[in-house]
Amino acid sequence: MVGTAVGRRGVVLGGLAAGALAGGLPLPRRARAQTGVRVGLMLPFSGTYAALGANIADALKLAVEEQGGLLGGRPVEYVELDDESDPAKAAQNASRLVVGEEVDFLVGTVHSGVQMAIVQVAREEGVMTFMPNAGIKEATGTLCAPNLFRTSFSNWQPANACARPVFEAGLKRAVVMSWDYGAGHESAEGFRDGFTALGGEIVSELFLPFPDVEFQAQLTQIASLSPDAVFVFFAGAGAVKFTADYMAAGLKDRIPLYSTFLTEGTLVAQGASAEGLLTTLHYADDLPNAKNQAFRPAFEAATGRIADVYAVQGYDTGVALAVAAAAVEGDLDDQPAMIAALEAHEFDSPRGAWRFAASHNPVQDFYLRRAEGGLNRFVSVAAEDLADPATGCEMG
Ligand code: PHB
Repeated sequence: MVGTAVGRRGVVLGGLAAGALAGGLPLPRRARAQTGVRVGLMLPFSGTYAALGANIADALKLAVEEQGGLLGGRPVEYVELDDESDPAKAAQNASRLVVGEEVDFLVGTVHSGVQMAIVQVAREEGVMTFMPNAGIKEATGTLCAPNLFRTSFSNWQPANACARPVFEAGLKRAVVMSWDYGAGHESAEGFRDGFTALGGEIVSELFLPFPDVEFQAQLTQIASLSPDAVFVFFAGAGAVKFTADYMAAGLKDRIPLYSTFLTEGTLVAQGASAEGLLTTLHYADDLPNAKNQAFRPAFEAATGRIADVYAVQGYDTGVALAVAAAAVEGDLDDQPAMIAALEAHEFDSPRGAWRFAASHNPVQDFYLRRAEGGLNRFVSVAAEDLADPATGCEMG
């Protein structure tokens, strides 16, 4: 499917490098200066995180459309690549976009393991890179870099914010369960840090390979451990299977289930299995701010889908591209000026106000939400202005 046009001015990369899309090799950077800004979108468009990738990409495009379809006064060309949430292919995929396609901005990705390879390529090539979801701590920790920005969260943040609501509900012994990869382990760490600091006890931590959805063995263990609460990190299609299995195992009414992303973008598919679940994230569907009230109908009109945190992160990534490109009036070679503009920017987002910390990870509020009638509804602010510890980040 090389050269297949998608959406507005977009190209999807298939099995071959899409230099073919221009009828030959990509144009040298200088020759392109007067033409389109090339935005590489390296996201999962298939697999358990496919819906997350689609919402990020489409909301990013919506933000750019709201700028008249221009970045720094120049038209925009998207080069899309399905990373399949596969870390084994990630370095090659990122290189295809940065070296092969010479994108001006690299946007990616969702999966923390794939993100690690993108970070490596971004650091080697120096391309302006925006992480619109994956929360792996190294990206804004030991591997932080001036050209790397995260518009989403660190895995630690929403999990850490979840500890207090659990503890304050009088639940003192918790089991943690997740997929066995970076996001799962760092979510466990964030929850554990918060929960044990409050005096809670982690009874057991259970993991299964990503993206497996055979949860039975762990659910049997949870039933016999009989903790006060269960905290999980699952997302996307896997989250739908998990809530169904948790209910089918008879646990939903027996052991309170808490999470971060478990009910995000999946409530329609989850139905009764998610009703009433409490989660903590940097977004709630019914936040009353003006940006959110404008964003939700605009996203639905553009896509026919309901907005969620992934859409909000994609939208804010589009805004970040616009901020960077506007600061240099489209002269994307002036990276220091783009970085300074992003570091100074206060985002007025559907999630509420946020800004980049020195590590380039968002400082933002985290909300406790309850799943009710198809929406993740605001309950309270679980953690205000929460920053990631950003351990080991030294900006070069
Ligand atoms: C991640 O791999 O970092 C990740 C994936 C899906 C989410 C959140 C984090 O919803």
